[in-house]
Amino acid sequence: MEALLVLTDDERSQLAERLGSVEASPYKDYPEFSELISKIVADGGVPARLLRTAERIRSERSEGIADAHVLRNCPVDEDLPEIGNEDPSAEKKSRKVTFIGEGFLELLAQITQTPLLSYANRFGGDFFIDVIAINKYLGKQTGYNGGEVVFHNDRTAHPVRADYITLLGMRCPPDDLVYTGFVPGRRLIAELSPDIQRVLREPYFVTPFDVVSRDANDGLDSTPAHAILSGVSSLRYLDTHTMTAADAPVEAKDALLAFKNALTRVPKERHRMQEGDVLTFANQHGLHNREQIEISDTRRALGRWLLKTYAFADQAAADAHSGAWIDGIPGKVGD
Ligand SMILES: [Fe+2]
Repeated sequence: MEALLVLTDDERSQLAERLGSVEASPYKDYPEFSELISKIVADGGVPARLLRTAERIRSERSEGIADAHVLRNCPVDEDLPEIGNEDPSAEKKSRKVTFIGEGFLELLAQITQTPLLSYANRFGGDFFIDVIAINKYLGKQTGYNGGEVVFHNDRTAHPVRADYITLLGMRCPPDDLVYTGFVPGRRLIAELSPDIQRVLREPYFVTPFDVVSRDANDGLDSTPAHAILSGVSSLRYLDTHTMTAADAPVEAKDALLAFKNALTRVPKERHRMQEGDVLTFANQHGLHNREQIEISDTRRALGRWLLKTYAFADQAAADAHSGAWIDGIPGKVGD
């Protein structure tokens, strides 16, 4: 994808210096970390071009112009530790002593006015999580499998759903061709007849929980029947896993097939994440995937590491879930 903004080296290093001066850990005290980042914004520490870009992202989202955006040459920690694939998040928290990448994602959330969200039962409730291969999930249907991932959206069975996902390239093997794909929901819906859309809005479909959710919740095996489409273009779908419910009418199968055909046909956005790239896209109003077109070194490919945040559409969307906050931390939700 074409970048909306490429920071200059000066802009990047000035930002890194400011973010590096924040003396709080996002993993030990997120509210304090967030507060210190907001001081950088209030003190005029954000380049004007970045502020204008954040404003453009907001308006393109709200006007339905674009739901996926790329920024490049963003600040990332200079000395990234090796965190392996056994328990990379725990390794990160014990070895990573600077929080430049985390600070940039927090800053971006603030200037795009999309408050961050974390799940208490995922990675200890961290607001900054790692997209990296985890040995026990290799080859399974999850983003931690070290391979390709079919079109889906994240955590759509949870009552508190992320509106936006933002990824920051921390360590991206430069010779590999690994693409994150995105399909805007409205583009997909435009391919479907009103009759098909009507059926997709009925609770005729089931989607099994992914392996990471099952690991975090004992006794979680099947979800209640759900609609694939709701609202203007909000989706709930996991390709090759979402099926019709046992008692669904035959028209549900026709609609699912039409949806899958549309997904195959529709033009996709694709972005090859590089170090310092930010890709931010709609979670509910779209589907995303990962394709590995060419891997030059399989072992090194397992070191590919993106930092990821979940965010609400705006402060009002966050406030609507304030009853779900736990530990007194706004944005941190329980099971
Ligand atoms: Fe995902």
